[in-house]
Amino acid sequence: MTPIGYIHSAYQQPSEIPKGLGAEHPAMGILEILPQFKKGLKDIDGFSHLFVIWIFHQAKGFDLTAIPPSDNKPHGVFATRSPQRPNPIGLTVVELLSRDGLRLHVRGIDMVDGTPVLDIKPYLSSIPPEKLNRGWLAAAEAAQRKSAKKK
Ligand SMILES: C[S@@+](CC[C@H](N)C(=O)[O-])C[C@H]1O[C@@H](n2cnc3c(N)ncnc32)[C@H](O)[C@@H]1O
Repeated sequence: MTPIGYIHSAYQQPSEIPKGLGAEHPAMGILEILPQFKKGLKDIDGFSHLFVIWIFHQAKGFDLTAIPPSDNKPHGVFATRSPQRPNPIGLTVVELLSRDGLRLHVRGIDMVDGTPVLDIKPYLSSIPPEKLNRGWLAAAEAAQRKSAKKK
């Protein structure tokens, strides 16, 4: 696989990106697609949200368990969004704000500047919210709500 483009982001270092429970990603950025893939952008403008598939190119090695910033217990890497995974592939849903030729202006950036993009697909979900289970995250979120109430 080779990149179809690169991310322009205000984040220069992974540590600058908000993480943990309740972290939001309102940051705007640009997906700049390489000229040879321009034809592939035809009709993308009609979609409000996109899946961006990208490479954690600054990740070093992998671990099959991870302690996410949203919890204090280890979980299997495939039950987390850790960058240290056997195939360092990231998946982010962004809002498409506008297109200017090869540049897609988006909101929802959680990658550093220069991150290689492998693919883009329209975001479509047919799963009703009440059918979605949040796994270990639901317990971590409930614990956080409980401790916030105590304060
Ligand atoms: C928890 S991951 C989630 C990324 C994506 N939404 C996903 O689910 O695959 C986001 C973190 O990856 C790190 N990160 C961002 N860009 C990176 C890159 N190009 N290489 C390595 N780590 C990166 C940052 O620390 C950021 O907070």
